[in-house]
Amino acid sequence: MNIELIDIPKIGNVLGNIGVIENGTMPFEMKRVYYLYDIPSSAKRGGHAHKSLVQVLIAISGSFDVLLNDDVSERKVTLNKPNVGLLINNNIWRELENFSSGAVCLVIASAVYDEEDYIRDYDDYLNHIKTIRTL
Ligand code: TYD
Repeated sequence: MNIELIDIPKIGNVLGNIGVIENGTMPFEMKRVYYLYDIPSSAKRGGHAHKSLVQVLIAISGSFDVLLNDDVSERKVTLNKPNVGLLINNNIWRELENFSSGAVCLVIASAVYDEEDYIRDYDDYLNHIKTIRTL
């Protein structure tokens, strides 16, 4: 599956840590940053894939699970470290769940928001991925 864990550079000492993301840290040009917060523990977020968008998710605080599916395999990645990012390439179905109290999910994205880039229906996703695989 086309996902990867990325180390976020950390500057640390006894007074605490600084995580630094700047031009060149991500394997793509950053165009947007957003974050999920105040998430009820019962919430299931995501439930979509992106045709082109590439994203890195970071548990800046707390923890949550990311369920990933590309129609060939399924993975579950628990994010719980502010210095680890999960790179999710395009055309991967993702769901986020099991948010801890106070969890914050920072997302670094390769493009600005575009609803046209979303595939929000799972059957549409399966059709889409079959089509691109046969190209
Ligand atoms: P969505 O990406 O579906 O949230 P999640 O995957 O976390 O469950 O976005 C939820 C709503 O917010 C949807 O109506 C689109 C809107 N939105 C924006 O307007 N801009 C953004 O950058 C994002 C991420 C979402």
